[in-house]
Amino acid sequence: MRASAAPSVCLGCRRISGHPADLGFDNLPPVPSDAPARPLFARCLARSAAISDRKGGDVYRRRLLAGLSGRVVEVGAGTGVHFPYYPESVAEVLAVEPEPNLRESAQAAAREAPVAVRVMPGVAEALRAADASVDAGVSAGLLCSVPDPAAALAELARVIRPGGELRFYEHVISRRRRAAVLQRALDASGVWARAMGGCHTSRDTEAAIARAGFRIESIERFTFHPTLLDLPVAPKILGRARRE
Ligand SMILES: C[S@@+](CC[C@H](N)C(=O)[O-])C[C@H]1O[C@@H](n2cnc3c(N)ncnc32)[C@H](O)[C@@H]1O
Repeated sequence: MRASAAPSVCLGCRRISGHPADLGFDNLPPVPSDAPARPLFARCLARSAAISDRKGGDVYRRRLLAGLSGRVVEVGAGTGVHFPYYPESVAEVLAVEPEPNLRESAQAAAREAPVAVRVMPGVAEALRAADASVDAGVSAGLLCSVPDPAAALAELARVIRPGGELRFYEHVISRRRRAAVLQRALDASGVWARAMGGCHTSRDTEAAIARAGFRIESIERFTFHPTLLDLPVAPKILGRARRE
């Protein structure tokens, strides 16, 4: 029998080391989240998720998660809007959310979820999971918001086992030149990011995923804007990428 080494946390980088088999999500040592509370943004996000689902957004959420199995890490889970759509083939989900109000909503959503979901504080740049310890990662509306998408993707690449999947549903820079110019101007103004929890409208997330060591196996491009306020973030990508 293999001796079981206790998992340990590096307090500087907040990463966990130890044998993956010792790092069931239940065994994770506590790491404090220092994200500031953004109650207004949290309320807006909850309302916008509800409107989006009423207008057909739930179809995309279902498609994002279809066919997943094993252990999954969902980063930037928000209110837990995706939890109802996890298929029963998923054994457990570690849902990471740094904002305390959103995390509280996500914890309530986890109690109603069809699969085991554990909601944790944390950030995309330093995930509380060992190398190659999950079968899949889920990124929905995350890579627009993190300060450094390359660092977040590198962390996802670290924790997803080789051959595992990254599922993504993100808004991206438009392929229409004029729309892209407007998105860049909005980002340069800083107004959108301040109002929308750090969101950027003009990121080329497909390219960032490919650069991070994932092979994109399928990708759908479409526009979806449940309200007029969502117009700057209407161009979406939804797909799956394989960890090389
Ligand atoms: C636009 S919201 C999307 C929330 C949810 N995934 C959804 O689809 O409704 C972006 C989310 O990313 C979270 N977030 C922002 N920066 C993050 C970071 N560095 N690490 C992890 N999550 C982050 C926010 O707190 C928020 O929940």
